[in-house]
Amino acid sequence: MAKALIVYASRAGSTKKIGELIAEGIRISGHEATVIKVNEIKKEADLDGYDALVFGSATYHGDMMQGMKTLLFLAEKADLEGKVGGGFGAFGWSGEAPGRIFDTMDNIFKMSMVGGPLMLKSASLGGGVQMAQDYGKEITGKL
Ligand SMILES: Cc1cc2nc3c(=O)[nH]c(=O)nc-3n(C[C@H](O)[C@H](O)[C@H](O)COP(=O)(O)O)c2cc1C
Repeated sequence: MAKALIVYASRAGSTKKIGELIAEGIRISGHEATVIKVNEIKKEADLDGYDALVFGSATYHGDMMQGMKTLLFLAEKADLEGKVGGGFGAFGWSGEAPGRIFDTMDNIFKMSMVGGPLMLKSASLGGGVQMAQDYGKEITGKL
């Protein structure tokens, strides 16, 4: 059984919910998933021991949330090369955060990324539950 870590930055709760649904998809596939808020990651070692890491942030004012920027600088020093990765986030209209997180994991951390970032306007409408769970299954498909 592989282990996945999902870290989210969320103000109003939608990105947190998406992260929890991604975790459900991972568990449905028979693997272990831990979901934690971004400020609970204090040091590089907190990212150790996972086969897959999935980072998510909501978009505010055209950008990812500050806590996710801090995490990405910290994660640069962790050895994530080759690990399975994904990025996600809730957004309203422009949704810059998920793509930027995804691109950083791909280009800087050299992770083995899934097909693309998951961007949802809502975790509960328009097939959002299914899409988020499917993203979790896509993560496990690369393990
Ligand atoms: C003050 C404010 C600024 C926002 N700026 C953006 C933005 O630049 N682009 C965008 O796509 N959505 C923007 N949004 C919408 C949020 O991304 C959206 O509400 C999202 O669901 C919030 O996720 P969260 O519940 O995880 O915090 C903004 C929302 C607020 C309240």
